[in-house]
Amino acid sequence: MNSLQHLCYTSNATRPLTPVDLERLLVSARVFNGTQGVTGVLLHHDGSFLQYLEGPTDGLQRVYQRIQESPLHTDLFELLGGWLDERVFPEWQMGSTRVAESTVLSLRHASWQMLSNPYGHHPILSPGLLLLRAHFGFLQSSV
Ligand SMILES: Cc1cc2nc3c(=O)[nH]c(=O)nc-3n(C[C@H](O)[C@H](O)[C@H](O)COP(=O)(O)O)c2cc1C
Repeated sequence: MNSLQHLCYTSNATRPLTPVDLERLLVSARVFNGTQGVTGVLLHHDGSFLQYLEGPTDGLQRVYQRIQESPLHTDLFELLGGWLDERVFPEWQMGSTRVAESTVLSLRHASWQMLSNPYGHHPILSPGLLLLRAHFGFLQSSV
């Protein structure tokens, strides 16, 4: 059995990352995530990261292990983790966008835990996920 899970974390860069560093990171991430069926988004502001990922449990664990082992960032803090019946954002490939500092701050302080929906199959999106979707919109810009 290989169910779906999602997770969201924040972290801080260990050194200033140039657009080229970020592009390299994203290319590598997109290739690996693609092999694992993992999708999501990465928001950043001056070395503060917030990444949302969803995919099959095994693939998500492999991706998160690479993320945890990356020397490019530190202070990983999980905002959300759990099981899913189906992807919340199936259209999100690993897009990335630079956002305002206030966006990272408001996302960091939002409530992230999902609520089960007594009236239907789809989960009720947590305020954090709703904010993330509002800020990320349908942009799939790079770096
Ligand atoms: C903020 C951040 C997000 C990352 N996201 C991913 C990811 O989604 N998937 C992945 O495989 N690796 C991710 N990584 C890890 C790096 O992509 C990877 O360790 C680095 O690019 C080295 O890749 P390489 O082994 O191909 O040289 C992330 C690293 C950081 C700092």
